[in-house]
Amino acid sequence: MKELEERILKDGDVLGGEVLKVDNFLNHQIDPKLMQSMGAEFAKHYADKGITRIVTIESSGIAPAVFAGLALGVPVVFARKQKSLTLKDDLYSTDVYSFTKKSTSTIVISKKFLEKTDRILLIDDFLANGQAAKGLIKLCNEAQATVVGIGIVIEKSFQIGRQLLEEENYDVYSLARIRAFEDGQVKFVEEQ
Ligand code: G4P
Ligand code: NA
Ligand code: NA
Repeated sequence: MKELEERILKDGDVLGGEVLKVDNFLNHQIDPKLMQSMGAEFAKHYADKGITRIVTIESSGIAPAVFAGLALGVPVVFARKQKSLTLKDDLYSTDVYSFTKKSTSTIVISKKFLEKTDRILLIDDFLANGQAAKGLIKLCNEAQATVVGIGIVIEKSFQIGRQLLEEENYDVYSLARIRAFEDGQVKFVEEQ
């Protein structure tokens, strides 16, 4: 998505070898106009998939997910990150390991908000190693809901996440795909 790529070039900062800081429009300050365009783009891509619900994870997935939900006319559920391991009967829960943050968190969704008739679109801000997405898929599977697509704002294509999800035949649609960081510069995957 051109508008997003241009924004990344303008306001993104490459930290270390593999982290893109986008605090100016996505991870701290949020640009509602850009979120709205992105939501519309996700909605267009998944328009004929019969989506009934969007699932994301707090906190940075929420903004793009809400705009996709608005455009598709469906509710948005965000998985919460829990510190404690107090398991409750009314929650689906799983552990997610973050390679970027080198820590494990437990993510939960109330059983009230996932149904087996649901056709789910997953949305997240970043796709790196795919562990957050895999965790969300697991929660949806526990509810016997169907994950029909995975919409990502920024994919780091040089990390393993996309490949892991494609191996399981998920329809992954990323609005920006980063091929590499070269000398602190963002290089996008060239579209055919
Ligand atoms: P994975 O889910 O694809 O395996 O990713 P990973 O564990 O490596 O990433 C964990 C957290 O770091 C996630 O945020 C993810 O969005 C974020 N992240 C990964 N790579 C980047 C990057 O290059 N830039 C930025 N800004 N974030 C990145 P989180 O812990 O869920 O936090 P939140 O921001 O959603 O609250
Ligand atoms: Na994040
Ligand atoms: Na995230």
